[in-house]
Amino acid sequence: MSDRVYVFDTTLRDGEQAPGYSMNLEEKLRMARQIEALGADIIEAGFAISSPGDFESVKSIAGIIKNATVCSLSRALKKDIDASYEAVKCAVSPRIHVFLATSDLHLEYKLKLSRDDAYERIVEMVKYASSLCPDIEFSLEDATRTDLDYMCRVVEGAINAGARTINLPDTVGYSTPEEIANMVRYVREHVPVSDKARLSMHCHNDLGMAVANTISGLEAGARQFECAVSGIGERAGNAALEEVVMALKTREGKYGLYTNVNSTEIYRTSRLLSSITGVKISPSKAIVGENAFAHESGIHQHGIMANSLTYEIMSPESVGVNKTNLVLGKHSGIHAFTRKLEELGYNLEEDEIKKLFESFKQLSDRKKQIMDNDIIALVGTRDTFSNEHHWKMKNYVVNSGNGITSTACITLEKDGKEMQGVAIGSGPIYASFRCVEKIIKHPFSLLEYQLEAVTAHRDAQGEVFVKISDGKAMYRGRGLSTDVIEASLLALMQAVNRMIDGKVMKSNEIDQVVDTDEGDMLVGHTDKEE
Ligand code: KIV
Ligand code: ZN
Repeated sequence: MSDRVYVFDTTLRDGEQAPGYSMNLEEKLRMARQIEALGADIIEAGFAISSPGDFESVKSIAGIIKNATVCSLSRALKKDIDASYEAVKCAVSPRIHVFLATSDLHLEYKLKLSRDDAYERIVEMVKYASSLCPDIEFSLEDATRTDLDYMCRVVEGAINAGARTINLPDTVGYSTPEEIANMVRYVREHVPVSDKARLSMHCHNDLGMAVANTISGLEAGARQFECAVSGIGERAGNAALEEVVMALKTREGKYGLYTNVNSTEIYRTSRLLSSITGVKISPSKAIVGENAFAHESGIHQHGIMANSLTYEIMSPESVGVNKTNLVLGKHSGIHAFTRKLEELGYNLEEDEIKKLFESFKQLSDRKKQIMDNDIIALVGTRDTFSNEHHWKMKNYVVNSGNGITSTACITLEKDGKEMQGVAIGSGPIYASFRCVEKIIKHPFSLLEYQLEAVTAHRDAQGEVFVKISDGKAMYRGRGLSTDVIEASLLALMQAVNRMIDGKVMKSNEIDQVVDTDEGDMLVGHTDKEE
């Protein structure tokens, strides 16, 4: 049996289903490109039937990814399989991922199907999917609570019907590493054709065991694992891609397994996800958290200086954390700036670099030393350049202090016309946001506001994330400036423009819970962020 383990990334499907992580088309494409650069073997781009937006994004991702298989999820229904096939068929390497629950609990209460009926449906749908596309994966949803002998019957039927990957998910994150290993071994021993398909793990983290369970499945013979960047996903999330990859790499001597992932892309990928979604990584998160390589105590620092192996089991560089943090400044030219972008792993078009360089120059007038994180944050705002803005902020004066009511006087421009407003509030952000609302005459509520310094020191840039809602959907915005009021207003303007712009992506429509005649449910997103 080969030692090569295939990495199936579901950040854009299972991950994106988690509250707060939905992305628009442009964001999904950026994420998919980065996951490709990271070296994932399979990218699950979405659930094509779930909404027109999802269909479009799966199709667009399938069109641009060249070095990974692109996959779409489908219930065991013809219409789902057709939608998935339509969305992925243009991919260099397309895959259809069909699933049906197999535990008695799900069969009886959710699907209202007998074991025999479910078996027949699985065989029929896998055969149908295989008639369209050679690469079919079948998942036994809730596998870890499925009767083992019934599981073997289904696995055998699905393989004989054409499935080339069999996924055994711990859908509810209930299993333990030992149970997972037993399940995988049981299937390998009791399904004579099991070597005709690759077995796969898909572990949820409800009891904090997703990574351990995944690795246990791999040790027992699975050769694909499903995971998400930073471990995002339904409820407590999926196995974190970076944790499984680095466990296999760091403990290669123990496991003897390897992946195709370029581990130096890990940090950038995780950082891109948080910069797109605005959801911060916990500082103590393994591999990609801010403190993952920080050594505060004197004893540890002394040990590290003597020999890094004393307290460091892997180097920060091996996951792409660059400790040198070469500084740029006022006198750096476009060549140094471009080289820095390349060093940070950004391969951008010339006109994008030029626009970013303008922002870099403006920043260098306000800030002496431009650090890597400043540049990464600048790149994170670059999608705002390409948007057709309805409203632009021309200028603002905000007055605030203790013992006075804050006032904001703001001028916005739209279609070449300037409009001015004045508002008061109990603080400068309140007054400014109210002022914008008065000018644009489009009410919204502020659902979330986050402000964070991009680097240390007093001249740091503030990065602001906002989420606003007009009652129908949710819109995100991001702003960056050394002036936190300006950063807040820029973030708000981006969200407002997305709210007003009729052309915004519909990738994450507020999908309803659709009760299908087959008894299965299609649960879409409950929020829409654009
Ligand atoms: O958790 C799960 O069972 C899933 C399947 C659809 C693979 O996400
Ligand atoms: Zn899942």
